[in-house]
Parts: sequence; structure tokens; C-alpha cells
Amino acid sequence: CEKKDSQASKQRLLVVANRLPVSAVRGEDDSWQLNVSAGGLVSALLGVKEFETKWVGWAGVTVDDDKGRQTLTQALAAKRCVPVFLDDEIVQQYYNGYCNNILWPLFHYLGLPQEDRLTTTRSFQSQFDAYKKANRLFADVVQEQYEEGDVVWCHDYHLMFLPKYLKEQNSSMKVGWFLHTPFPSSEIHRTLPSRSELLRSVRAADLVGFHTYDYGRHFVSACTRILGLEGTPEGVEDQGKLTRVSAFPIGIDSNNFIKALELPEVQMHIKELEETFAGRRVILGVDRLDMIKGIPQKALAFEKFLEENPSWQDKVVLLQIAVPTRSGVPEYQKLSSQVHEIVGRINGRFGTLTAVPIHHLDRNLDFHKLCALYAVTDVALVTSIRDGMNLVSYEYVACQASKKGVLILSEFAGAAQSLGAGAILINPWNVTEVASSISYALDMPADEREKRHYHNFKHVTSHTSQEWAATYVSELNDTIIEAQLRTTQ
Ligand code: G6P
Repeated sequence: CEKKDSQASKQRLLVVANRLPVSAVRGEDDSWQLNVSAGGLVSALLGVKEFETKWVGWAGVTVDDDKGRQTLTQALAAKRCVPVFLDDEIVQQYYNGYCNNILWPLFHYLGLPQEDRLTTTRSFQSQFDAYKKANRLFADVVQEQYEEGDVVWCHDYHLMFLPKYLKEQNSSMKVGWFLHTPFPSSEIHRTLPSRSELLRSVRAADLVGFHTYDYGRHFVSACTRILGLEGTPEGVEDQGKLTRVSAFPIGIDSNNFIKALELPEVQMHIKELEETFAGRRVILGVDRLDMIKGIPQKALAFEKFLEENPSWQDKVVLLQIAVPTRSGVPEYQKLSSQVHEIVGRINGRFGTLTAVPIHHLDRNLDFHKLCALYAVTDVALVTSIRDGMNLVSYEYVACQASKKGVLILSEFAGAAQSLGAGAILINPWNVTEVASSISYALDMPADEREKRHYHNFKHVTSHTSQEWAATYVSELNDTIIEAQLRTTQ
């Protein structure tokens, strides 16, 4: 296949995701500041080095003028990124609306929006139209960037129409689609008015990937029950055309975290944190401020723990980093007030003149501070009510080589299937169970902590993001070769 630059030996990979790995902020003199974005996919793919990777996606900013579009395109080119420009109306209807007010809650078992949530962001149909329109814009940019032999890897629930649009434009394009959220039971998916169109569009891909086997099974069931297709051990088949469906659990770039711990700056943060929390044990929560993360449930379970264990009051703190996200969606605004109210009440109830039990921060932390926090804390508490994978649990384990802290992990996070052997698994809805797990974790003997940590550390360091991407792309290549062989037989 044709390769055009010095990285000629590497295969070109076009990664298409709603969000680029950088978000852009415009300066007064038309210059652009590019900031690395937070988020699971971003951190995973930043570690992927085996391919000549180019990103196609939205830079998180609206740019209406030609000059701005031109200068941003140039600035992003240096980062091997190509922007898709979305105007304010599309962002509102597609991103805030259909993606994050409809698909995101539905895929996390929270159901379809109630009428008031629908009317605040206009009607379902106009959001669905905007979703298709946005997917078209992405398809056009991919088409412009595409070179014969490239692999196109589409990501996530924002881009379910992309496989269909790309294949319509060029049937020989190698197209993969990967979902970073759960795919729900077909009984949930079937409530979606556009259920069939979405399934058919995804099916146009050559390989459809999920984090867990269960999500893939739900997708196949949805295709068999809703579309009437045939499910096979490899995936879904329709009149001889097979769409391969498989599980590819994502990982992290664990070395990046392990190496960071040696940096003087991180060591300095570790020292500061140890001094700040001297004499107290620290339970850590790091989440985007999202309803799927179970932050209210976490605070309520911690309250229950304090209630039942008065001897721990004043000796333990829950340090919750809540990274603001999707603030244009009304449900997220409501969640923020709800969490603040609960935290305020618990701190009022159990706080003393010198200390509060919950230290809650509404902000993102820079990478070095985050690594230091992961390293010094005694317990990580992940209470997602549903979560595609949850890489915070992986990051925590990667940074705990010396302390061997305990991971308490929701059984509803995809990570429970890979880190279940070392973590304490919990049902986040059961506050009594979570409270007693906190107590168990804080009192856990060193040899048990070591054993549990060893299991998980081994997994996290041997199932990395690099390996994840390499496996996916190699399977996509194989899938296409097999399909070609089938048609020539
Ligand atoms: C999840 C999604 C990603 C998304 C990230 C951050 O991890 O699966 O696709 O990028 O959240 O959300 P945002 O809406 O800020 O892109």
C-alpha cells in the first residue's frame, strides 16, 4: 500500500472519535492553545505507537470564520489531528442532545429521557437528524483524509452512523467500530425509537468491538431480536455478509504512570500530600462528574461507614476529585447541585473544627498531581452504577506498587471482569455493603493487600493500551483478508 512519508513501514491508522486528543482555545491574536483532553479513549490511544496514527474529530470549540478554521487546521496538523467543524446548533442537538441526553443514559441503563429533559433540548427527531448530519460531516472529513490501504477505526456512541456512511462512500475501506460504553441488554436498546437504523449502520463495519464479552452478546442479541438477523459464534450474519463482533478490553499505558512516580515533581507532591494527611487514612475517588459514576451513592455509603464506625471519624477522609463534564446538559447541572448538597450535609454532620470527612474538588488535576494522589492513598473507591470499563481503577493499581492500597470496585464497571480477583467488588446501590467494604479495606492485613495488589498489577501491566490497539487493528486486518478469501472461493 502507498505510504507518503518517512514512517513508510508503519500502517496508517485513521482514528475517528467525537473528541480529538486535544481541545483548542482561541487566543486574541488568532493563535490557538491546544490542551490535552481528559477521557478514557484519549489516554489509551496516546500510548499507541505501533501505527502512523492520524486523528479525525472535534476540537471542542466552535469556529465560524474561514481564517479561524484555517489557522486551527494548521495548528492541529502539527499534532497529527484533523478537525471536524461543528456549529453551535449541531453541538447542542447532536452532542448535548442525542449523544449525551439520549444514547449515553440509555446505554448505561438509565432509560430514555422524561419529557422535561426532551423539551429542554428540543425534540427527539431533530436531535436524531442532527446526529446523522454530524456523522455525515465526520464521514466527509475521513473521506478527504483517506489513502488506499488505511485502516479507519471509528469510536464510540457518537459515531454509530459512520461505518454505514463510510462504506457507502467506499466499499473497500477497512472500517472498525468500537464502543467505549456498555452496550445494554436488547430489552433496553429496543426502547430507542431509532433502534434499528443504529444497529444496521454499525453492522456495516467489518469488525465491531466492545470492552467485555457481555456487551458484545447484548449487541448480537439486539441484532437477532430487533433486526431478525442470524447470530453466529463470530458475530452477526445477514445473507452471507458477516459482521465480526468481539471483546477487546482496553488497558492503560501503565509504564507512563510507573515512570512518572520517579519524577522529582511527583515525589515532591507525594511528600506534600503525606504531610497534609498525616495521621489520617485517605480514600480516593476520581471521576468525571457524571451520573453513571455513582458519586452520590459513594458519599452516602461513606456516611454510613462513619455512622457505623465512630472510631474512624476524624481518622479517615474521602478525597473526591469530580472532574466537571458536559455542563451544557441539564442532567449534569442537576447532578452537581445534588452532590454538593449531600457532601455539605455529611461534612456538617461529621466535620470538626479542624477537619472535614469529605474533601470534594470540582476540577481536573494535572497528570503529575494525579499520579501522586494515586500513589499515597490507602483505598480507591469506584462506585459506578454502570461503566464501560473504568480506567481510573487501572491507573490506581499502576501507581500502588509500593503502598499496595485496596481497590473497591463496582461490579457494574467493565473493569470488574479483569480486576475482580484483586479488588473488593461491590454493588454501589447497597450502601451497607459498600460501608462494610470500606471498613474491611481499611483494616486489611498487609499480606492480603499484597496478594490482591499483585494480581491486579500483573494484569494492568500486561494488558496495556498499546496491546489493546494492536490486537484490534490486527484482527480488523485479518477479518478483511478472510472476507476477501470467502468472496473469491
Ligand atoms: C467517555 C466516552 C468518551 C468521551 C469521554 C469524555 O469516556 O466514552 O467518548 O470522550 O467520556 O466525555 P466528553 O463528552 O467530554 O467527550
